[in-house]
Amino acid sequence: MPFCMEFSGSCRQTAPWGENFDLEKFIIKGGRKLHGEVEISGAKNSVVAIIPAVILSDEPCVLENVPNISDVSISLRILYEMGANVIFTDKNTVRIDATGIKDPIVPYEMAKHMRASYYFLGTLLGKFGRARVSMPGGCYLGDRPIDQHLKAFTALGATCTIDHGMVDIQSENLYGTQIYFDMVTVGATINTMLAAVKATGMTVIENAAKEPHIVDLANFLNSMGADITGAGTDVIKIRGVKHLKGTTYAIIPDQIEAGTFMVAAAATGGDVLIKNVIPKHLESITAKLEKIGVNVEEFDESVRISVDGPLVKTSVKTMPHPGFPTDMQPQISTLLCLAEGTSIVTEGIFDNRFRYVDELRRMGADISVDGKVAVIEGVGHLMGAPVTAPDLRAGAALVIAGLAARGVTEVEDIYHIERGYENFEEKLRGLGADIVKKSVPGAAVRKTAI
Ligand code: EPZ
Repeated sequence: MPFCMEFSGSCRQTAPWGENFDLEKFIIKGGRKLHGEVEISGAKNSVVAIIPAVILSDEPCVLENVPNISDVSISLRILYEMGANVIFTDKNTVRIDATGIKDPIVPYEMAKHMRASYYFLGTLLGKFGRARVSMPGGCYLGDRPIDQHLKAFTALGATCTIDHGMVDIQSENLYGTQIYFDMVTVGATINTMLAAVKATGMTVIENAAKEPHIVDLANFLNSMGADITGAGTDVIKIRGVKHLKGTTYAIIPDQIEAGTFMVAAAATGGDVLIKNVIPKHLESITAKLEKIGVNVEEFDESVRISVDGPLVKTSVKTMPHPGFPTDMQPQISTLLCLAEGTSIVTEGIFDNRFRYVDELRRMGADISVDGKVAVIEGVGHLMGAPVTAPDLRAGAALVIAGLAARGVTEVEDIYHIERGYENFEEKLRGLGADIVKKSVPGAAVRKTAI
């Protein structure tokens, strides 16, 4: 059973790391149309950057709309173990006082289990001029180097070494500079902002990532007194400041969770109102779903998904924002298995993001993969089968496949899914899905999050 971390009056179930525990699985009886309303939670890829960023503040901060997911629990546990005070004032609001952190070293055993732990590099370098964090784990999506992160830290005046699996970075002083990324990288854009926000002078990031979570982090840092402009464009300017004060900040809704529920509604032929979204963040997903024949009705803070005709083949290529998100690739591919005709899905970001295809084939999907391209022949329906989640988004896609399939699907290794989806099965049950979580006794494993 996951252990519970007591934070002053509030206890949060959290994902253990490096410990053996019973695995859990979803059991899904497919063929039911989803209907009703679902509320989207705070964005995982925002909050895993904003939690470490709290270290930069000279005062306590309060974060609202924080999703109860295991990546958040691990990030908060790292802060807690480093000496921060972490108190949940309600299930999605946390007060963090990181002013007690003095040692810029993230415990190896924790950091290696979560890729986003590398954001502690930028924030600790920015605050203390020193950072020591394990090399990020995870290669589930292919090669995921951090050369651009280290290039940026070096350009700011730091020296970077890697020894015994730890990245060690230090600098007497950090000076603003011009940084041009060789490719669009969310992680390196975020890490550079964290390191540069208190540097001396102006830092200009060119070829910057433009995802909603980049803008969210910039808004959070500016609410603490930072001076960042251009976030959301490919040129971000950061003028270093001496002090960052405390703030209260609400995390934006999760673009990918919203997209996942949009596809789930479409795949089951349902009619679902998805609430607490920012429709502008969903534009590329909406456009692709409409091309496939799905009805998307936009409101100020919600979208309604319905289907009243056949799904049709479409081509998709994943791109950096505002292109179609790579984190929606497994989900849209699953939907295209049910569309008439031949669809082509090209993965434009990662080298190896089709590991879930073998699992979909067990359910009757007709997909062939050649490198970064999947050719999907629509089939009339999928059939329930036992499958295993290879990673977070692929796991969510396999749940969607189970919801649409005829018969029963069992999805194992659902700890991947719980990294990024708050109360996933409860939300689906609230929409009429027949899905339950069961333990797999004796199947103990160490968790590794990417
Ligand atoms: C972030 O990963 C997200 N993770 C990923 O979401 C997301 O898929 C990805 O951005 C792209 O949007 C978090 O935010 C915690 P990148 P990140 O740096 O930062 C190459 C999910 O499901 N690259 O934008 O690791 C890299 O190999 C996860 O929520 C270098 O070559 O992605 C990749 O091919 C999965 N050198 C491409 O750039 C570097 O130094 C984009 O990577 C950095 C990246």
